[in-house]
Amino acid sequence: MAQEVRGVIAPGKNEPVRVETIIVPDPGPGEAVVRIQACGVCHTDLHYKQGGINDDFPFLLGHEAAGIVESVGDGVTDVTPGDFVILNWRAVCGQCRACLRGRPWYCFNTHNAKQKMTLTDGTELSPALGIGAFADKTLVAAGQCTKVDPSVSPAVAGLLGCGVMAGIGAAINTGAVGRGDSVAVIGCGGVGDAAIAGARLAGAAKIIAVDIDDRKLSTAQRMGATHTVNSRDNDPVEAIRALTGGNGADVVIDAVGRPETYKQAFYARDLAGTVVLVGVPTPEMKLELPLLDVFGRGGALKSSWYGDCLPSRDFPMLIDLHLQGRLDLDAFVTETIALDEIEKAFERMHGGDVLRSVVLF
Ligand SMILES: NC(=O)c1ccc[n+]([C@@H]2O[C@H](COP(=O)([O-])OP(=O)(O)OC[C@H]3O[C@@H](n4cnc5c(N)ncnc54)[C@H](O)[C@@H]3O)[C@@H](O)[C@H]2O)c1
Ligand SMILES: [Zn+2]
Ligand SMILES: [Zn+2]
Repeated sequence: MAQEVRGVIAPGKNEPVRVETIIVPDPGPGEAVVRIQACGVCHTDLHYKQGGINDDFPFLLGHEAAGIVESVGDGVTDVTPGDFVILNWRAVCGQCRACLRGRPWYCFNTHNAKQKMTLTDGTELSPALGIGAFADKTLVAAGQCTKVDPSVSPAVAGLLGCGVMAGIGAAINTGAVGRGDSVAVIGCGGVGDAAIAGARLAGAAKIIAVDIDDRKLSTAQRMGATHTVNSRDNDPVEAIRALTGGNGADVVIDAVGRPETYKQAFYARDLAGTVVLVGVPTPEMKLELPLLDVFGRGGALKSSWYGDCLPSRDFPMLIDLHLQGRLDLDAFVTETIALDEIEKAFERMHGGDVLRSVVLF
């Protein structure tokens, strides 16, 4: 029997979001219905509302979530009702050319639930990143559910479902930060701060946080930055070089995703160093670099999709590190809010006041 629950809808471009009754079908083959316990508010939700992702309104927003599996469809063996799970937006297929080459974190054919959730009048909803978790319950592909230790708080666990995983993974997976490395992170929102936490976890010796907002720089210090640079007042390339013996950092992570920050990352890294782009650019952005510099400076220019994570490998490991007190994920939760306060949370996000607002159910 399909169920009626509350969900937060973005009805049209730049229209305020609102709580509506939505219909969640029973899980079909390979699907699961999850009762949501917590869901973080991410910049991508705001992008959906603004029409910046695509025009498939109405959207069912929310995608940084954790909850309890309520029911599963035919053929689902990895999770069972009652499991505590974090939802992921890259359920790997196991069969595409990336998966077959043993690199499933790049899976080129990730999947979501086949059935649609709808409004009560039958209008089909587009769930944000194939999740749609600003809702009491949501329908996903079973592969989007990753079991983790249920003793963790749902508010913290949900954040690993998107921005925090993207940032940690940008450092430890894509950037392959190692013990003793120097790392610079440009843009210290939720993603950049998670990259800082990831670099600390990996044993980086020097972690330089760069932002245009001093408030963000003081939070970055709490996350593990050893040095900070306000790039509104200072040239970040010169500052990072000065802090690294004149050489530049081994790994520079751009967690903003603009041509100017990418160029800063490119020139602030040491010879043969690595640039990681984890911030997401918009379609009109263009990058111009002297090709000779691309050649002459060597090293690697990489992009980080979802922190190049493999949810089944990385989520349980990071939750365990958190529970052991070795990774402070609580620090990412600025406030907890109710389902009808998301519009307010967007405003606070826009004002730069919060790292993450998390809806508790
Ligand atoms: N690659 C992925 O899979 C993935 C996943 C989640 C989010 N993201 C992207 O990561 C980016 C960051 O997300 P977030 O949630 O941390 O956003 P956020 O808005 O919380 O943080 C952005 C930070 O960048 C700073 N900033 C802005 N312009 C800057 C500049 N010119 N120089 C230095 N700092 C600057 C802001 O002050 C802010 O602290 C976004 O583009 C988001 O879409 C990527
Ligand atoms: Zn695949
Ligand atoms: Zn997100």
